[in-house]
Amino acid sequence: MFFSLSQKLMFQLDAERAHEMAISFLKKSANTPLACAYKQQLINKPVNVFGIDFKNPVGLAAGLDKNGECVDAFDAMGFGFVEVGTITPRAQPGNEKPRIFRLKEEQAIINRMGFNNKGVDYLVEQVKNRQSNGILGINIGKNFDTPVEQGKDDYLLCMDKVYQHASYITVNISSPNTPGLRSLQYGEALDDLLGSLKEKQAALAKIHQKHVPVLLKIAPDLTAEEVVQISDSLLRHKMEGVIATNTTLSREGVENSTYGSQAGGLSGRPVAQKSTQVVQLLNDELKGQCPIIGVGGIDSAAQAQQKFDAGASLVQVYTGFIYKGPELIKEIVLSR
Ligand SMILES: Cc1cc2nc3c(=O)[nH]c(=O)nc-3n(C[C@H](O)[C@H](O)[C@H](O)COP(=O)(O)O)c2cc1C
Repeated sequence: MFFSLSQKLMFQLDAERAHEMAISFLKKSANTPLACAYKQQLINKPVNVFGIDFKNPVGLAAGLDKNGECVDAFDAMGFGFVEVGTITPRAQPGNEKPRIFRLKEEQAIINRMGFNNKGVDYLVEQVKNRQSNGILGINIGKNFDTPVEQGKDDYLLCMDKVYQHASYITVNISSPNTPGLRSLQYGEALDDLLGSLKEKQAALAKIHQKHVPVLLKIAPDLTAEEVVQISDSLLRHKMEGVIATNTTLSREGVENSTYGSQAGGLSGRPVAQKSTQVVQLLNDELKGQCPIIGVGGIDSAAQAQQKFDAGASLVQVYTGFIYKGPELIKEIVLSR
């Protein structure tokens, strides 16, 4: 009721303005009586993945709470885990506005935000001050003006700063809105990055006496052969998990939409099948040795089930959550 009313109002506004207002409300209302507007007590559907106990397998995908300001509010909605970020070492403004577009008929979004965020130190302060103790993923990236050949240093710096505050860390090399970023998904560049991340993880585990899983987030626009190569690297480097997928550069299914030709990454219903295919391909290669989080176009329990059937151990939602609200979490959790 509260969600459908506020959504009607929000959808009258420019998408980014609506986003800012929602984040501001969630930040201010968390842990106050106002939180009853979105709080949900859901039955537990526990699952253990990468050595972590999740109260249910439905998470919030990265990009909605880029600065980690609303973890308590999202936790109150019943998410089994919340992923914040993508965060970069230094604050950066992102691309010029407008940079986010709703494709309502297609239940989709196109965004070219470009990692707008307040920097890793700000995020660390936010998550340190949270009251909830739910599972927290922190998604890290590189600054837009760091040359891609030095991108590794940005990931290592962020890892250093977030390690002790994260339940798991996601290395995002699949956003289409930071030029050159996706090149880190291939060959030697990927092997070099994964090797360094693993070394860093071992050193930080010693310092903090805590093992924090490191996951890789990949794009839906990879060929089958490329997915096989990535799987091979994931296994060789003993990565703890993989998130499939980020947004797509494809415009299949939105050719006739008003905003269909906007530049950026497409998410929501039109990416569902592509993401599920990547999950399936990964699963064929990884054979349970490296768990998969399935994300892309999940807007119902049935869509979530397709990701689980393809081999995902956990799922995440973003665009479906924008269109359906906290009810979507409930629908999926209850169906498990
Ligand atoms: C506006 C917007 C911003 C996003 N920002 C990020 C981000 O900063 N980091 C990231 O890893 N993924 C980001 N994503 C991708 C989502 O986390 C997710 O992988 C993708 O949208 C597919 O899921 P969906 O169809 O449920 O939205 C963003 C998506 C949207 C729509």
